[in-house]
Amino acid sequence: MGKLINGKEFADTLCKKIATEVTKLKDKNIKPGLAVVRVGEDPASTVYVNMKAKKTEEVGMHSVTKILDEKTSQEELLNIVEKLNQDESINGILVQLPLPEQINEDSVINAINPDKDVDGFHAINTGRLWSSIDSLVPCTPLGCKMLLLNELKDLTGKKAIIVGRSNIVGKPMAALLLAESCTVTIGHSKTKDLENEVKKSDIVVAAVGVPEMVKGSWIKPGATVIDVGINRIEKDGKKKLVGDVNFDEAEKVAGAITPVPGGVGPMTIACLLHNTLIATCRKNNLEIPKFF
Ligand code: GUN
Repeated sequence: MGKLINGKEFADTLCKKIATEVTKLKDKNIKPGLAVVRVGEDPASTVYVNMKAKKTEEVGMHSVTKILDEKTSQEELLNIVEKLNQDESINGILVQLPLPEQINEDSVINAINPDKDVDGFHAINTGRLWSSIDSLVPCTPLGCKMLLLNELKDLTGKKAIIVGRSNIVGKPMAALLLAESCTVTIGHSKTKDLENEVKKSDIVVAAVGVPEMVKGSWIKPGATVIDVGINRIEKDGKKKLVGDVNFDEAEKVAGAITPVPGGVGPMTIACLLHNTLIATCRKNNLEIPKFF
């Protein structure tokens, strides 16, 4: 039976450390501020944005939530982003995705001041990440990297596969694991014999958005499995939250594995607060605290 990687506990500890740093900033009259923008009423986005605001306040940061109508135009949203770019009380800006179809996501992401881009999605931050220059790193992959380092200590020479090639998780995860000297494969819907690619891997990061797609029989015995998926399904007439990995099968084979829920999910918000703190320190020319 593989060890359970407790992301919730790790995230709670990280949030406590962040709260301590926020208290230290108070003595310098600095209060980190995070603005989260939601457009429309997507139920999952509503839950995530509310959770982000709650956690931001819990660590002592200034939290601003902007909720805009589903019909908001791109120009209106760009104006709001520009106001937040100019707002001295705001150190981090996050526009919750997905956006309604009348809005071009890339235009909005790239309108955010890269120094306030706590999602790490701006093309400048993407380029910096792939060039191994200090940058704001996308929260979910950053959280996965922290869990992997905590578990394995050194990732050098490990064979890692990421299943999924999204801009939010798959691609930045590949950059982070490459920087840790892993040999990295990105698997996706067109990969030939994905099962065999996964079987060769010491580290599996599943971020494909297909419920329980990665089977236990695909996992190399002893491998470390990080499941990014959060899928709501109905099983035996009951509503259930499952990942992209078949947990019941995989936990019998893996050396260590994240559960869903309680694995990667809580790390994403903790890393958002981490990024907001870093952006605040950079702006004020203060030393960047190291947490891992
Ligand atoms: N939607 C799902 N995940 C994310 C995320 O990490 N950031 C933003 N902005 N939107 C998301």
